[in-house]
Amino acid sequence: MRQFMYVFLFSFAHVLSESDFAKFDGAPPSKIAVVGAGIGGTATAHFLRQHFGPEVRIDVFEKNSVGGRLATVSVNNQEYESGGSIIHSLNLHMQDFVQQLGLKYRKSVAGKTAVFNGEEFIVEETDWYLLDLSRLWWRYGISFIRLQMWVEEIMEKFMRIYKYQAHGYAFSSVEELLHSLGGSGFINMTRRSLSESLLELGVSQRFIDEIISPIMRVNYGQNISIPAFVGAVSLAGVQANLWAVEGGNKLVCSRLLKLAKANLIQSQVTSIELRSMGEYPQYEITTSSQDKKTSEVYDIIVVATPLQQNVDTGISFQGFEPDLPEMPGSYHQTVASIIHGYLNCSYFGYPDPKLFPFSSILTTDASELFFNSATSICPVNITSGFRRKQPQEAGVYKVFSPKPLEKNELKTLFKSYYSVQVTDWLAYPQYGSTQGLPPVVLHDGMYYLNGIEWAASAMEMSSVAAKNIALLAYHRWNRQFEMIDQKDLMHKVKTEL
Ligand SMILES: Cc1cc2nc3c(=O)[nH]c(=O)nc-3n(C[C@H](O)[C@H](O)[C@H](O)COP(=O)(O)OP(=O)(O)OC[C@H]3O[C@@H](n4cnc5c(N)ncnc54)[C@H](O)[C@@H]3O)c2cc1C
Ligand SMILES: *[C@@H]1O[C@H](CO)[C@@H](O)[C@H](O)[C@H]1NC(C)=O
Ligand SMILES: *[C@@H]1O[C@H](CO)[C@@H](O)[C@H](O)[C@H]1NC(C)=O
Ligand SMILES: *[C@@H]1O[C@H](CO)[C@@H](O)[C@H](O)[C@H]1NC(C)=O
Ligand SMILES: *[C@@H]1O[C@H](CO)[C@@H](O)[C@H](O)[C@H]1NC(C)=O
Repeated sequence: MRQFMYVFLFSFAHVLSESDFAKFDGAPPSKIAVVGAGIGGTATAHFLRQHFGPEVRIDVFEKNSVGGRLATVSVNNQEYESGGSIIHSLNLHMQDFVQQLGLKYRKSVAGKTAVFNGEEFIVEETDWYLLDLSRLWWRYGISFIRLQMWVEEIMEKFMRIYKYQAHGYAFSSVEELLHSLGGSGFINMTRRSLSESLLELGVSQRFIDEIISPIMRVNYGQNISIPAFVGAVSLAGVQANLWAVEGGNKLVCSRLLKLAKANLIQSQVTSIELRSMGEYPQYEITTSSQDKKTSEVYDIIVVATPLQQNVDTGISFQGFEPDLPEMPGSYHQTVASIIHGYLNCSYFGYPDPKLFPFSSILTTDASELFFNSATSICPVNITSGFRRKQPQEAGVYKVFSPKPLEKNELKTLFKSYYSVQVTDWLAYPQYGSTQGLPPVVLHDGMYYLNGIEWAASAMEMSSVAAKNIALLAYHRWNRQFEMIDQKDLMHKVKTEL
């Protein structure tokens, strides 16, 4: 079933994109701006090009580095992912990008995972996707099977999005999008906590504390009060085959910009001002780089960076009546430290590092530890002879923590180290810090991509939002409202085939 669905969806990924702009007979927009060159912004540029055709000018503004939260740091002439790193085998947009861009997959190198509670390992396992079933069965009873079925059902529903998007359907809000995939059940899942949903499902508290909670800590730096929807996305990410992009995930972003023939403008957008109202309003973007201010007028704008106050994008919106609403909530701080050194295996109860079998250490919530996870990591380019470093050798580790590690904390985790590189991320939403999901349409011709992160933050979610916004902008520009927020799409796409 899985396999079938996968092949089926993949073959329709381009139904609309090749020919749809040819149908258009009005005047196309002349200039479109995208603010932010992360995976969301660069994928938007790519899909905008597909739908609006070769004539429109697409400018992409970036104040820092192309890639945004996809980034690498360098240790001994090798690059390592410091931000978004893992891609699920059913993330079809990401797969599609990698294939179209001539990039290669980098499979994860096998390694064992264990859960540490501050004193000892309470779960010692093989790779997550080869979970030792008999052991889990013995320890947690039916919980594991229930959980697996729950996640699979959600994944199957979520994957309807690829079919809807291939048929050109768009959604004017994250709620509409989720509702079309999983009905009110999906909307509810963005509001109720994961722990509540799982307990209701019959998953044991012990399983939640020992398995689920460590997974939420490593993936989102948060606890099991996280909403059920993002919790399910997070759990999907430990189930099936995982991969990353050879050379670094951020390569997808720079190559998408090239493929889209977009102009990359390396400066910070400081204001977006409404310039003319009417049926097709225009917007002026002002940027500043090295004290030089420049302004330019656009027909369509896509804001592809979080607008929460603590993210501090530096953009002010002017001339909008009424003022644009402020985005409630905040982004969660997660610090990624890339450390080259010797793991202190004694701290984990293994005085002899040669006997230490784990490459990935997760932690329980109850432990109140200063770190969320510590993992031996592989460089973004893996040669054929590559093998993981053994714990008795100096290796490269990634430690996630809620605050920068203090010197004594580093000395606890590592016997000694050569280098520490710290990336202090506002990584993903602080879930539960707000009610409801942010808007997609900010104004007639102005769209917001990152609201989708409040359903779940992941590369694929930004890519899904990018495709949706390109379609939405295209249909709204052409007044094809029948392609927006259609009900009963399951039925429609069946009869259209
Ligand atoms: C530590 C960490 C681990 C993660 N792990 C995973 C994972 O394993 N798998 C996964 O799928 N996802 C993961 N994620 C989440 C994933 O990285 C993000 O969801 C995704 O990269 C978001 O992309 P984006 O383009 O929407 O936003 P961003 O990447 O944040 O892009 C926004 C861009 O806009 C730019 N910008 C902001 N303001 C302005 C301005 N005024 N003018 C010009 N430019 C501006 C920023 O510099 C930035 O480059 C992780 C994230 C972090 C931080
Ligand atoms: C979602 O919540 C609403 C309101 O609480 C409820 O009416 C609806 O039945 C729920 N949907 C599902 C599928 O549980
Ligand atoms: C999870 O974290 C939030 C925010 O830090 C907190 O309010 C909540 O009580 C925690 N929940 C549990 C079950 O620990
Ligand atoms: C790493 O991989 C990328 C993508 O395949 C390639 O472009 C790059 O040259 C490689 N770098 C090294 C050092 O091998
Ligand atoms: C390693 O862990 C042990 C046991 O917790 C601790 O006594 C020691 O100080 C740690 N650090 C080093 C550098 O060995």
